[in-house]
Amino acid sequence: MERITVIGAGNVGATCANVIAHKNLCKEVVLVDIKVGTAEGKALDIWQAAPINHFNTRVVGSTNDYLKTKGSGVIVITSGLPRKPGMSRDDLIKTNAAIVKDVTEKAVKYSPDAIIIIVSNPLDVMTYAAYLASNKPSRKVFGMAGTLDTARYRAFLAEALDVSPSDVHALLMGGHGDTMVPLPRYTSIAGIPVTELLGNEELDKIVERTKKGGGELVNLMGTSAWYAPGAAAAQMVEAIVDDQKKIFPVCTLLQGEYGLKDVYLGVPVKLGRAGIEEIIEVDLNKDEKKLLHESADSVKSTMKVLDDMKLFE
Ligand code: LAC
Repeated sequence: MERITVIGAGNVGATCANVIAHKNLCKEVVLVDIKVGTAEGKALDIWQAAPINHFNTRVVGSTNDYLKTKGSGVIVITSGLPRKPGMSRDDLIKTNAAIVKDVTEKAVKYSPDAIIIIVSNPLDVMTYAAYLASNKPSRKVFGMAGTLDTARYRAFLAEALDVSPSDVHALLMGGHGDTMVPLPRYTSIAGIPVTELLGNEELDKIVERTKKGGGELVNLMGTSAWYAPGAAAAQMVEAIVDDQKKIFPVCTLLQGEYGLKDVYLGVPVKLGRAGIEEIIEVDLNKDEKKLLHESADSVKSTMKVLDDMKLFE
């Protein structure tokens, strides 16, 4: 691929650009930010690692100049403010939706064929905002959450069982927040159902820790995470660039799948060069279905907050 753009040169965006460059996924990664010099500086820093780590992908920074992003095949959007004391959830939606709308419109103008991956929070509703702003089919505008949440779940399981993290296969669905739905019934260690290797009590603890995985890091660092979020977004970019047809949980617009309609929610999809090439519907039991529908209700209420703001009329 010729060019990939990462918008937002904060910790998550810079990490994502760094991983993309190290994986040699394209000829050029463009990092964009509104803060003068930040994107240029971080891009230069990443590029100076090329002779050390042997990658060829050029890394370029831009202060708000979207002309430099022209013709990108994939655009990753990480822009947005973190929640500050005194800010309501609705305030955050409003501030970040305006930012996501603005950057999506600018980016799509120069790269009308790009696939867009949203990383900004609150994730599910920001993905919806980018979808509305982009005027593109939903199969080309989707959000990164499940790859990160699943990675956390898999890392906790690998630690508990003392096995290789790459041998842990898992499925996790729902919104990016406390209502996410890790699915132990669809979790295996090198093909062995996890329930054969780990007791219910320990498994429940890991599921609960996964649901609060982002919060655990905020409490430790006073700010949200970036290494795993940046790498998780880059993993989705890789699946698209290399047309891998990999199956990941991705935040996508449901139109009847799982009995849900008009809601952006994390479900397993097949990712390839065309974006989301298939939404996979797995059988859920009654309890799992109930949890997924509760998660959908919670996301729908935040989507309604966005609709009521009438930003897109
Ligand atoms: C997290 C943020 C990045 O889960 O959403 O860490």
